[in-house]
Amino acid sequence: MENLHIQIIIRCCSYDELSPADRALANAAREATNNSYAPYSHFSVGAAALLENGITVSGSNQENAAYPSGLCAERTTLFYANSRYPHLAVEALAVAARNERGEFVARPIEPCGACRQVMLEVESRQGRPMRLLLCGADTVYEIGDAAQLLPLSFRADSMR
Ligand code: THU
Repeated sequence: MENLHIQIIIRCCSYDELSPADRALANAAREATNNSYAPYSHFSVGAAALLENGITVSGSNQENAAYPSGLCAERTTLFYANSRYPHLAVEALAVAARNERGEFVARPIEPCGACRQVMLEVESRQGRPMRLLLCGADTVYEIGDAAQLLPLSFRADSMR
């Protein structure tokens, strides 16, 4: 018997250390929190996707009185990006969140399992990695590809 060790590489930096391009993407995610509809959780999440042609699209979490009918910011944004620009790869996705006091949360946001699954499919669909910038108020986690967030994942080729 042997143990399998799964490694995930997270580049941890401060907001000020981001390159100008990454800071612009993080700012777009922060800005998108203003359009969140979160009357139930009071947790406002924004995401911004940088497409391969340089366009940035953003989205936010949209809640519903029937709770499961709502959608996270990451999926809102990725589904919109793929709906509007189905042939353009998403190079990077930044995510930011504000708490019920309107403050950006200290710890970098950790996407839920369903969003990780969707991120994975975005990567397999476009055949190239999507870099993640998970933003806290000061600390940012940069992850080179979304697949790292979901080891042992179920994917299309799992069924073959
Ligand atoms: N949420 C996101 O939009 N993204 C995440 O990564 C975590 C959670 C939303 C879903 C719900 O509207 C609220 O945050 C509380 O869970």
